[in-house]
Amino acid sequence: MLEPEVLPMDTVLVTGGTGHLGRSVVARLKPSYRVRVLARSPGSDPDVEWIRGDLATGEGITAAVSGAQVVVHAATLSPAARRGYLLPVDFWRSPPEVDVDGTRRLLDAAIRADVAHFAYVSIVGVDRARIPYMRVKHTAEELVRTGRVPWSILRATQFHWLTDRMLGKAARLPMMPLPTDLRTQPVDSRDFADHLVGRLTEGPGGQCVDFGGPEVLTLGALLTTWRQIRGRQPRMLRIPVPSTVERAARDLTCPAGKRGTLTWAEWLRTHPPE
Ligand SMILES: NC(=O)c1ccc[n+]([C@@H]2O[C@H](COP(=O)([O-])OP(=O)(O)OC[C@H]3O[C@@H](n4cnc5c(N)ncnc54)[C@H](OP(=O)(O)O)[C@@H]3O)[C@@H](O)[C@H]2O)c1
Repeated sequence: MLEPEVLPMDTVLVTGGTGHLGRSVVARLKPSYRVRVLARSPGSDPDVEWIRGDLATGEGITAAVSGAQVVVHAATLSPAARRGYLLPVDFWRSPPEVDVDGTRRLLDAAIRADVAHFAYVSIVGVDRARIPYMRVKHTAEELVRTGRVPWSILRATQFHWLTDRMLGKAARLPMMPLPTDLRTQPVDSRDFADHLVGRLTEGPGGQCVDFGGPEVLTLGALLTTWRQIRGRQPRMLRIPVPSTVERAARDLTCPAGKRGTLTWAEWLRTHPPE
């Protein structure tokens, strides 16, 4: 029988360990590994070794990576995700300081620290999407792929929390414009955390199979469910989209990939609005 590549009580550094995905990854790693988190605002969990740092400036990176056998890089900076809606600026620029510069710094530190496995969290379809944030993520993937640290890239479709946040913000408008025919495959970030942590035991896997939610839904269907469960009735303006845009949205789904189990409706029923 093959030995798992990550041995129990190895040290795993998680970046983004205070975020939606990162919190679930940390919780799943804790029973078996020493878990270290690089964070701008360290948490209080005594079972985690907190390193104060900032990927955008480089603060704390060397200390965080030193002595770690595995790095799970789940930190990101998406201004649109943070605010919960898109602005025109999101269509021409996305800040690279965390995702590109921070990834480069982490990889450099990982070479020096002889890290055995660098697992990078990414998004289904980043290689085909044209939105600046996705291009930033793809550039980071390229750094990982062409770097000298053994790697895995794990891509997921859009998380339920982000879909919920964006609908919540859009519902405040007098009219909610929505390209109802676009397809999406939202996934629970905890399902993806299960997959990711399970994958770590197999060692560096290169480009891993895409991970998506259990259902491919149109945005129209997704909104109908959201209205029913959240009890909000925003007026919707249906926006027709050209076939090129529809194809581009399909690239962000992965019906043939691995799938989580928690549906959009189940997630909404078990999560109050943020
Ligand atoms: N959201 C989605 O729909 C989705 C879908 C597929 C893949 N992904 C990928 O999954 C990963 C995690 O996403 P998420 O949804 O969990 O994001 P999130 O909740 O926004 O968390 C982002 C994390 O990055 C940290 N971070 C931001 N700037 C930092 C900096 N300068 N230095 C250090 N840490 C910094 C944040 O820490 P602070 O607490 O300090 O801000 C936070 O812990 C990302 O790689 C993302 O691209 C996301």
